[in-house]
Amino acid sequence: MIELLKNKINDIPVFFVIFGGAGDLTHRKLLPAIFSLYRQKLLPENFKILGFSRKPLSDTEYRKSLYSKLKKDGKNTGKLWEKFTKNIFYHQGFFAERNDFEEISLKIEGFLKKFDYNAEIILYLATPAQAYYPIIQNIQSSKLRSICEGKNTRIVVEKPFGNDLKSAEILNKELKKVFKEEQIYRIDHYLGKETVQNLLFFRFANQAFDTSWDKKSIDHVQISILESIGLESRGTYYENAGALRDIIQNHALQLVAHIAMEKPEYFDEKHIRNEKADIIRSLRLYSKDEIREHIVRGQYKGYREEKGVDKSSYVETFVAMKLFIENERWENVPIYIRSGKKLKEKQTKIIIKFKGDEDLLISSDYCANTLTYNIQPDEGIEIKLLNKTPGKEKVELANLDLKYREEFKEKIPDAYETLILDIIRGDSTLFVRNDEIEASWEFVDHIRKEWNRMPPPNFPNYEKGTLGPNEAEDLIRRDGRKWIN
Ligand code: BG6
Repeated sequence: MIELLKNKINDIPVFFVIFGGAGDLTHRKLLPAIFSLYRQKLLPENFKILGFSRKPLSDTEYRKSLYSKLKKDGKNTGKLWEKFTKNIFYHQGFFAERNDFEEISLKIEGFLKKFDYNAEIILYLATPAQAYYPIIQNIQSSKLRSICEGKNTRIVVEKPFGNDLKSAEILNKELKKVFKEEQIYRIDHYLGKETVQNLLFFRFANQAFDTSWDKKSIDHVQISILESIGLESRGTYYENAGALRDIIQNHALQLVAHIAMEKPEYFDEKHIRNEKADIIRSLRLYSKDEIREHIVRGQYKGYREEKGVDKSSYVETFVAMKLFIENERWENVPIYIRSGKKLKEKQTKIIIKFKGDEDLLISSDYCANTLTYNIQPDEGIEIKLLNKTPGKEKVELANLDLKYREEFKEKIPDAYETLILDIIRGDSTLFVRNDEIEASWEFVDHIRKEWNRMPPPNFPNYEKGTLGPNEAEDLIRRDGRKWIN
């Protein structure tokens, strides 16, 4: 396991090109993460950040705009900002315009020469997905192409990685015309979350759990990815996505893979991702009737009035489902998943409900061990254990409670800090490989295809601030179980 905890510092000069440098993602997530790495002295001494967007801005205006966002979000900038900002530049241009790519190549070339070609180039696609194609095509047809052939060049692609299997395959094919698989970093920011990374340590380093992690000991698993926020001005994107594509295809299936994967032969990028892909490929594909029975969709009241949303939209803002993994370890162990927007609270957690011992007098549904793995916002692990109540002839469930914020003095790193550091270090373990993405789309496309053939659902069907439609409760109640909130 220790192999996973690698030294995080690297001193090769690095040049970032951020396509979409003036955009929201760069302001909200990327730049704050890079600046935080700088403050922690985790960036190489020599680095440059070139923001590339359509918006007309000078270098100074660009720096100011990044700075005001940091300030607005209450980030501590201090004196270091002045030093840091000297490494930030801006290129105003168009993703469909080859000349802009030639100009950028010249800038990169200058940087490479200065360091005797011993430098890394990171091309970061922080744009809406429609811009990916012109960008990749212009990389191919400009001088950037020869730069990209160097092994020290990486391309980072944000989700959505396609809209279905077919578009994901096309995008992969385009990328592969220029880049090798090991140069492509597909981001699922959930994999950068500290608690998600800990899932593998927790499972495989704690023998007590590792040996009881299967159908003999586990009754069922629940995964909840609940959000209180709504569309956050992304109505147009969401209308083409819906909860199934926005959350289930990526974050939820990645969590399933972490929970269910076999122990890899080695804890390295190849073996961990092989095991994850195996799980996603082993998800049971339901018949039409099973889809109707095991998958619930919902839409909150008021969704159709949101900006960018069709007045008669049937896009789902909530999904709950029961799924099965078809392998020996997980045979007939249901995994219940639910995710939605505008719900009662923000909470991402995984529950492992162990089996009770039917021979014991005390056993009942409530007398079985429960492991609650809180991914966010209150990061921690809770275990319910059976314990004799002191002074009484009675056994009750008692709580063992690990809270990250009480237990660990260290700040919990932001997911983007972890991911950007790994990109610089050239470690792609926390990035999603081509085969994982394609297997996830296969699973999701199958459901969507059946949904498209069914009569339209009875939308909207849940109130804001609740836990979704009643059918989500029925889905699990029918099996004699209940959601653990
Ligand atoms: C993104 C989705 O991938 O994840 C958003 O596109 C969602 O719709 C977000 O709000 C949730 O991320 P987090 O880290 O807040 O759980």
